[in-house]
Amino acid sequence: MKIFAHRGASGNHPENTLKAIQAALEIGVDGIEVDVQSCLDDYVIIHDSWLDRTTNGVGKVHHTNLASIKTLDAGLGQSVPTLQELLQLNNNQTLLNLELKHTFELNKLVKILDLNIANKIISPDNLLISSFDHHQLKWMKQQLPWLKIGALTSSIPLHYAAFAQELNAFSVHVDKDFVNADFVKDAHARGLEIYAYTVDKYEDVKKLHQLDIDGIFSNFPSNTKSFVQFTKL
Ligand code: G3P
Ligand code: MG
Repeated sequence: MKIFAHRGASGNHPENTLKAIQAALEIGVDGIEVDVQSCLDDYVIIHDSWLDRTTNGVGKVHHTNLASIKTLDAGLGQSVPTLQELLQLNNNQTLLNLELKHTFELNKLVKILDLNIANKIISPDNLLISSFDHHQLKWMKQQLPWLKIGALTSSIPLHYAAFAQELNAFSVHVDKDFVNADFVKDAHARGLEIYAYTVDKYEDVKKLHQLDIDGIFSNFPSNTKSFVQFTKL
């Protein structure tokens, strides 16, 4: 079972910051999930569409320029990283799952990804783009056919993982509290990996292992890794 650091190693460090990413790299996770938002003139790594909860700033990320965002404290003196800073810190060390939140002007994002692939900052294998907005995923996949797509859903759609297969996705990502054996079976039959979020408790890790889940997103990847290793899940 793969372990992804959720918002970096966000249980022990400010979420979605370079510190949380660095910690996840040091733990040796299988992948790192972060959230991507558009600001006025760039892409930044932050979960909410508002600055208020995770920084000492206020207002909408999309209405703020990068220079202003960079003056803010995202916790313990960390700044809000840009997408480029994240890609460079990772330097192709592990799989990056970029979850698109309020991301606009996707043609710009496509250019950034393409350039980083060309410059070997990241390889296509180490890049997984996910979103709850399946139209956005469809568009991204049309622009970059090599792109690995992670189709996000909180609950179980009526036609199980058919929506993800239709998107030509690599994986389907589902809320741990909704996932069940039928959904996992259906995803696997369609050739999709299936990952669950957000999983920090041993009981949940065990249950998801029994369900044959391929990976989990954890806020405490170090603890979760020990659960998996010590119990040989
Ligand atoms: O990508 C999985 C998970 O992060 C989705 O929910 O709100 O934590 O971004 P959220
Ligand atoms: Mg997320």
